[in-house]
Amino acid sequence: MQILEKHKILERNATLLLVFSFLVVTVGGIVEIAPLFYLDNTIEEVEGMRPYTPLELTGRDIYVREGCYVCHSQMIRPMRDEVERYGHYSLAAESMYDHPFQWGSKRTGPDLARVGGRYSDEWHVDHLRDPRSVVPESIMPAYGFLENRMITGEYIVDRLQTDRMVGVPYSDEMIEAARADFLAQADPDADASGMEERYPGAEQRNFDRQPGVSEMDALIAYLQVLGTMVDFTTFEPDPTR
Ligand code: HEC
Repeated sequence: MQILEKHKILERNATLLLVFSFLVVTVGGIVEIAPLFYLDNTIEEVEGMRPYTPLELTGRDIYVREGCYVCHSQMIRPMRDEVERYGHYSLAAESMYDHPFQWGSKRTGPDLARVGGRYSDEWHVDHLRDPRSVVPESIMPAYGFLENRMITGEYIVDRLQTDRMVGVPYSDEMIEAARADFLAQADPDADASGMEERYPGAEQRNFDRQPGVSEMDALIAYLQVLGTMVDFTTFEPDPTR
């Protein structure tokens, strides 16, 4: 009981308690944080991850601008109900090129981490124009104006360069071709062979079925790629990590 007697001194002296609490938190903090400085990489590398194409990246910026993250998360937690509803739990590597990441914690709408390929482009157009037309009980706002806002990729080179500054591996070639890739992805008649080589698996088509490249094209290109880069039919988590 000696030790408890001594603890009494701490409990009865606010300043002393504060000093010792601070010590405990400091030691705990160092134990948690210090190992991270000695690890080269805290993200398990996963096959299939590539940077976003210029059009997808633009769609992502529109997603952030419109505040879609206010109602939608993009992180499937490793719990049974989530995995059954949304698919394989999210891997750290899947958001390694996201600046800023869109994990979120607020789900007024469903998680979107694996919404890519779940619906057709037409469904997305209808849903963004008037969510109630496809999901009658929906409370999601309409975003039909996006299809009238035409975009030209004016700043896309700067945009890729900015992401490269924070570590996204855009090559010189990708940056040089950014404008052309931006336009080619939404135009089924354009030669997109270069784009597909630079961004394996990137899909080329007219996402909103209207002439020209609109913000709707970019946003749907982004939604359709979400969670599709890693092939989960062959993915095996590394148990040693
Ligand atoms: C006010 C909250 C709110 C905002 C903001 C919002 N959504 Fe939603 N969203 C919902 C709700 C609720 C649903 C479920 C009903 C439905 O499908 O419409 C939903 C459903 C969706 C779905 C279908 C998901 C699925 O798995 O069925 C997509 C895709 C989607 N939203 C995209 C977006 C995008 C893109 C934006 C931004 C432009 C956005 N949402 C903004 C509330 C919101």
